[in-house]
Amino acid sequence: MGRESVDNKGFGYWTGLGIVLASAAIALLVSVTAVGPGVVHAFSHGITGRSGNPGTNEGTICTFCHRSGTIPTVTLGGPLSVAVGSTSTYRLTISGGQRSGGGLDVSVTGGTLLSGGADTRISAAPRDVIDGELVHSGTKAADGNGNVVFDFGWRAPPSAGSVTMYGAGNSVDRSIGVTGDNAASATLIITVLEAASISPQAFLPLLLRNSEGW
Ligand code: HEC
Repeated sequence: MGRESVDNKGFGYWTGLGIVLASAAIALLVSVTAVGPGVVHAFSHGITGRSGNPGTNEGTICTFCHRSGTIPTVTLGGPLSVAVGSTSTYRLTISGGQRSGGGLDVSVTGGTLLSGGADTRISAAPRDVIDGELVHSGTKAADGNGNVVFDFGWRAPPSAGSVTMYGAGNSVDRSIGVTGDNAASATLIITVLEAASISPQAFLPLLLRNSEGW
């Protein structure tokens, strides 16, 4: 009687342990599947919606997650006045900070961002949450001066007006984590003008002459 009850207890113990081990294995499998490739694609290979644009994530930048390192200086440079439909080159520079490596996220309120080389790419679904932003394709190493420089293109929209470019730059320590990094952002307001054209007045004498048979 006593022995039987011991056996029953033992059976119950091993079954219980089996269930615990099995659920632990399932939990591990689920977490690896859910977090594994997603994290790598979403972060160190570019993240969207963190350019400082008030239209995405309340205008937050990389500092939402990366904020324990030295704050860098981030600048955006390029033409402030362009013709409709024209393509120009812009540059985001991360200086100071960790002086080791960096990444970026740029968004615009109009026109089209264009990748300037292998260090950047244009975000697209399903890999990215937001389409059409300019992000780093991998952590870019700082140059000899400790700066991280990204050159890229932007094509102006077909109609005249004002476009805002938002750019965030993250200065990282290349430890493949969020610690020891920090970021800053910059904004450019670009005026898009009608393409240079001959004014109607310049045509007038010609039209008059033609109408008079000259
Ligand atoms: C929601 C949190 C989060 C935000 C916001 C975020 N990151 Fe990250 N980032 C991570 C995590 C987590 C890692 C580490 C895992 C990895 O590399 O994917 C990381 C890693 C990185 C790395 C590699 C860091 C190193 O030291 O090696 C770079 C570069 C990077 N992110 C750039 C950016 C940029 C640029 C922004 C802003 C435009 C940004 N991140 C915003 C979570 C975030």
